[in-house]
Amino acid sequence: MQEPFERALPFELADKLEAEKNLTDEEFASVLLCDYPGFSEYLAEKARTVREKYYGKAVYMRGLIEFTNICKNNCYYCGIRRDNSNAERYRLSEEQILSCCDAGYELGFRTFVLQGGEDPYYTDELIASIVSSIKARYPDCAVTLSIGEREKDSYQKFFDAGADRYLLRHETADKCHYEMLHPAELSFDHRMQCLRDLKEIGYQVGCGMMVGSPYQTTEHLVKDLRFLQEFKPEMVGIGPFIPHHDTQFAECEAGTVEMTVRLLSIIRLLLPDVLLPATTALGTIDPRGREKGILAGANVVMPNLSPSDVRGKYLLYDNKICTGDEAAECIRCMAMRIASVGYETVIARGDHVSFGTE
Ligand code: 5AD
Ligand code: FES
Repeated sequence: MQEPFERALPFELADKLEAEKNLTDEEFASVLLCDYPGFSEYLAEKARTVREKYYGKAVYMRGLIEFTNICKNNCYYCGIRRDNSNAERYRLSEEQILSCCDAGYELGFRTFVLQGGEDPYYTDELIASIVSSIKARYPDCAVTLSIGEREKDSYQKFFDAGADRYLLRHETADKCHYEMLHPAELSFDHRMQCLRDLKEIGYQVGCGMMVGSPYQTTEHLVKDLRFLQEFKPEMVGIGPFIPHHDTQFAECEAGTVEMTVRLLSIIRLLLPDVLLPATTALGTIDPRGREKGILAGANVVMPNLSPSDVRGKYLLYDNKICTGDEAAECIRCMAMRIASVGYETVIARGDHVSFGTE
């Protein structure tokens, strides 16, 4: 076979990214935009190698409990925003949340992710009480909170109650872009402050952005990568933007599976030991999206543990998958999907491990 006498530049940039865990802004943009045949697979292969070096073939499962879809915010992209009067609202009680954990523990989960809208009904005291009840019952499990922006002293209370991790996507690292996605009452600076506070308190912190959100440019994505590189989160949640019919972005195009998996690979190379989920949104835009995510360097999945009667109500975007499945069925399905691409789901807390990568 004839060797190409000169290797195309983006392939060299992928090598450079792997070796140096860094690129210039222009180089990041070329890696994001490159449409040479075989380039995505080349990046994914490198990402898999790095991921396997640190985490082997293990895929960590997180039991996701969507405990309230009531939200005081009005993010323009989100199906459960305050002004969507068509959303059927619900809240789970402390007892209901605990029984989700009971079921989840039996199924092998050792991390519970409590996710919800910004719902003032759950005061700091109530959240702290829920966290400490879960930790008392399951001291071998990690508790992750994903309940949006609060003040530092609230975050401290949850941490003192036993919460281990916190997910708060930054959504976009560009302030102007942030303001195009959110009403004026939400502030980019406050969100960034929350992320810094969480880190300072000692949480394992997750941030992340939607891929292909309205008005997003390549420059914005480069800024997101730069932010991830500087902030060094333990977890990064990314998924494609998917329009929701009851929002002002209803007619906008969804993000693509190609760009999302490319970003997963880039993020794996940038932050080699990061915990990186193949998200439900990725599985929603492509029937094999999560498998493609795992093959691109992701190492976490988050099956839904919410009670079946509320699942169809936690709809941030249209056509969300897994809303009609029992938790047990969802896990079987997920384990099979992961095995089909040569990886294995493990029963473990799956904490972030710093492997001393500089
Ligand atoms: N499409 C994709 N992701 C969305 N999110 C919210 N709305 C959408 C949407 N329409 C993401 C946001 C949020 C996370 C919980 O879900 O990034 O932080
Ligand atoms: Fe939920 Fe397949 S992962 S049904």
